[in-house]
Amino acid sequence: MIKPDAVRGGHIGAILDKINAAGFKIVAMKMTQLSKATAGAFYAVHKERPFYDELVSFMSSGPIVAAVLEKENAVDDFRKLIGATNPAEAEPGTIRALYATNVGENAVHGSDSDENATIESNFHFAGCDVFAD
Ligand code: CMP
Repeated sequence: MIKPDAVRGGHIGAILDKINAAGFKIVAMKMTQLSKATAGAFYAVHKERPFYDELVSFMSSGPIVAAVLEKENAVDDFRKLIGATNPAEAEPGTIRALYATNVGENAVHGSDSDENATIESNFHFAGCDVFAD
């Protein structure tokens, strides 16, 4: 997901450019806005964390871009491309170093495993809207 801060900042195009340049194939994509309920469900794994309410408010505060990406080693390579969760700790040139504001408003989300990538793809897209090889 390209998060509400990066959409508000006008960074959709620049972020998609970096994703393409890094060799990812976009196989599904849409712009949408999460409700508090859907944002809460997406991040349910963080329900007990102190930042959960803030995260749900932020993620439902404006439109996002959801996408499904395909590549060999996609999860690890995407996490390298986006950089650390906290942009203050992200490597220079990573998407979060370039476009994130702080640890909460951190420009992008990437799945942390192939299993969660499938769950998160199904969260946003019907199977017929995913053009995977
Ligand atoms: P993301 O990769 O989408 O996964 C969980 C999100 O929770 C994370 O990015 C941040 O947006 C948010 N998050 C993680 N740690 C904190 C924190 N310490 N304070 C606020 N938000 C956080």
